[in-house]
Amino acid sequence: MISSSSNCVGIILAGGSGSRLHPCTTVTNKHLLPIGEMPMIFYPIRKLVAAGVRDILIVTGTEHMGDFISLLGSGKDFECALTYRVQDEAGGIAQALALAERFTNGQPMCVMLGDNIFERPVNALIAQFLERADTAQILLKEVPDAERFGVAVMEGRRVVRIIEKPESPPSNYAVTGVYCYPPDVFDIIRTLAPSERGELEITDVNNAYLAQGRLHAAVLEGYWSDAGTFPSLARANELVRQSPPL
Ligand code: DAU
Repeated sequence: MISSSSNCVGIILAGGSGSRLHPCTTVTNKHLLPIGEMPMIFYPIRKLVAAGVRDILIVTGTEHMGDFISLLGSGKDFECALTYRVQDEAGGIAQALALAERFTNGQPMCVMLGDNIFERPVNALIAQFLERADTAQILLKEVPDAERFGVAVMEGRRVVRIIEKPESPPSNYAVTGVYCYPPDVFDIIRTLAPSERGELEITDVNNAYLAQGRLHAAVLEGYWSDAGTFPSLARANELVRQSPPL
C-alpha cells in the first residue's frame, strides 16, 4: 500500500490545437486563456499541489511551450517542481500521457486535463486511489450534455463501459478529465490503435482497465466544467466568479 500523495506524481495535459476556440487560440494556447483572475493552467496545478502532489509534468505542443515556461518557471511560486515535455503533434490525450513514462519513473500518477475546472479538492480521491494501488480511478459527473464527453454505460451503480462522445448518451455521467493510473498505464497505451478521429483515446485506456476489472469510478462533488468551447469557457468563468475553487 502506498500511503502519501508525495508518492504520486502529477501530469497536466495542455497540448491540443484549441481549434474550437479560434481565433482566441490562433496565437496562444487555450490553457493560457483567463478563467476568473488566473490563466486556466493555474487551476490544475493548484489542485495537485493542494493534494500534496509536488512533482508535476506539463505536456504541451511546440508552439507555446516557451510561453508556459515564461509563465510558470520552475514551479517555485506554486511550491512544486515543474517538468515540461513537448508533444510534437496533437495525437490524442493518451498519446500526450505516453510522453510521461520516464517522468513517472514507476510511480502512480494523477492526470488532469488542463481545461477542466472544478470546485472541490482531490486530496481524498487521490488518497483512496493510492490505497487501492493497482486500480485506476476515474471521476464521473452528471451533466445535461453528455454527448460532448466520454460517457459511462451504467449497470446499476457499476460502470461497464465508456463510450467517447456517443450520439445518444447511455447515461448522464460524463467522465471528467481527472484520472488516476497505476504505472502500467504506459503498457496499456502501447496496445492502443488510433480512433476514427486519428487520436489515441483516453477512453480506450479506461476501457482496458475496465476489461481487466481494475477501474474504480467515483463521482466528483461540486461543480465541474471543461473550457474547450466558447460556451463552456464562459460557464467555467461564471462558476469560478460565483464561487472560487476550494
Ligand atoms: O473534459 C473531459 C473530456 O475530455 C472527456 O470526457 C473525454 O473522454 C476526453 O476525450 C476529453 O474530451 P475532449 O474532446 O473535450 O478533449 P480535448 O481534445 O478538448 O482535450 C482535452 C485536453 O487534453 C486539452 O485541454 C489538452 C489535452 N490534449 C488533448 C489532445 C487532443 C493534449 O494535451 N494533447 C492532445 O493531443
